[in-house]
Amino acid sequence: MHLLTLLTLPTLLTLLTFTTALPSPHPPKPLPLLIWHGLGDRYDADGLRTVGTLANKVHPGTYIYYIRVDDDGSADRSASFFGNVSAQVAKVCEDIKLDPQLAGSVDDGREGGGGIRVDALGFSQGGQFLRGLVERCEGLSVRSLMTFGSQHNGISEFQVCGSYDFVCKGAVALVKGNAWTEYVQGKVVPAQYYRTVNESTGAASEGYLEGSGFLADVNNERVLKDASYVDKIAALERFVMWVFEEDKTVIPKESGWFAEVNGTDGVVTGLRERAMYKEDWLGLKRLDEKGGLVFKSTPGGHMDLNEEILAEAFGEYFGPETSEKSARLMPQIGLVGDAPVFRDQARLVDESKIYL
Ligand SMILES: *[C@@H]1O[C@H](CO)[C@@H](O)[C@H](O)[C@H]1NC(C)=O
Ligand SMILES: *[C@@H]1O[C@H](CO)[C@@H](O)[C@H](O)[C@H]1NC(C)=O
Ligand SMILES: *[C@@H]1O[C@H](CO)[C@@H](O)[C@H](O)[C@H]1NC(C)=O
Repeated sequence: MHLLTLLTLPTLLTLLTFTTALPSPHPPKPLPLLIWHGLGDRYDADGLRTVGTLANKVHPGTYIYYIRVDDDGSADRSASFFGNVSAQVAKVCEDIKLDPQLAGSVDDGREGGGGIRVDALGFSQGGQFLRGLVERCEGLSVRSLMTFGSQHNGISEFQVCGSYDFVCKGAVALVKGNAWTEYVQGKVVPAQYYRTVNESTGAASEGYLEGSGFLADVNNERVLKDASYVDKIAALERFVMWVFEEDKTVIPKESGWFAEVNGTDGVVTGLRERAMYKEDWLGLKRLDEKGGLVFKSTPGGHMDLNEEILAEAFGEYFGPETSEKSARLMPQIGLVGDAPVFRDQARLVDESKIYL
């Protein structure tokens, strides 16, 4: 008793985490974690591995699956620029079912359930691709979906490429004036989450609704809506959306929260004010009503991450399925250095100067 009064609050929290973990001879296993990287990155990059290592530090024993479109890291990076996103998502869905460690995470037939139960973490474009996976992959059941700086409502502009970035220039040249052609929509990755609106009505443009190879479908914006997408999103326990306050790479940055931004005067219409929410095209309203939709922001530019933010987020939303109380008590873990890897990642992005 007396001893306790001497302890500072953070120390006390650490002790509680520890003692609640001790009595169980078989501590509940953390859910596996899928991580999908962004544009210009690769699944075997050091920066991404550091994130996985951190997730494991916060919840020891977490099996991490680094999503890739190709086992060769360099081909995986190319596929972040060029390829058909729907085909990529379909391939990832098949691949994860073949992974013996993920297949072992069979869930117990909960709503929206299937064979594989996981948490999911997406960086930038990897965030909306993961969401597509949640919606389309039969047999995959996701507890927490967390995205950082993603483009859930698309991008409205393609930024100027760096002078020597020929990959970026190639992609932009393909898109220029041809954004809605089948060729571009089947080949240029960022074009598949490009989104334009009718300037006077603010509604999604016809070109987008007809031509979009990915986003218009996974956002259920077309007249015919896929009811299973709605159920899959509503069945999430948490959908945590992070926006970088100073993000200059994603235009508009509020896309990370499904907000609509008027390109002329910059007025932001929040998700809850939009028809897609009010009419619940995607299950986001149902999810919100059960407290599962989380809007977060963090200072800094695109992908300006640090371990404190990540560790806190992982502590709160990932880990064992059953341990709500211990998840609330953030483990007091030490920082693993200065995270130069994240800065590398940010630099890569800057060089490519398209949208992640
Ligand atoms: C992209 O791939 C999907 C799935 O394989 C296919 O149905 C679709 O037609 C492709 N899109 C384009 C524009 O080639
Ligand atoms: C925008 O919407 C208005 C009203 O429906 C329509 O008259 C106009 O043609 C649309 N503009 C474009 C560029 O599609
Ligand atoms: C966007 O802003 C401009 C300038 O304020 C305005 O004229 C236009 O009506 C707005 N568009 C929508 C869809 O609200």
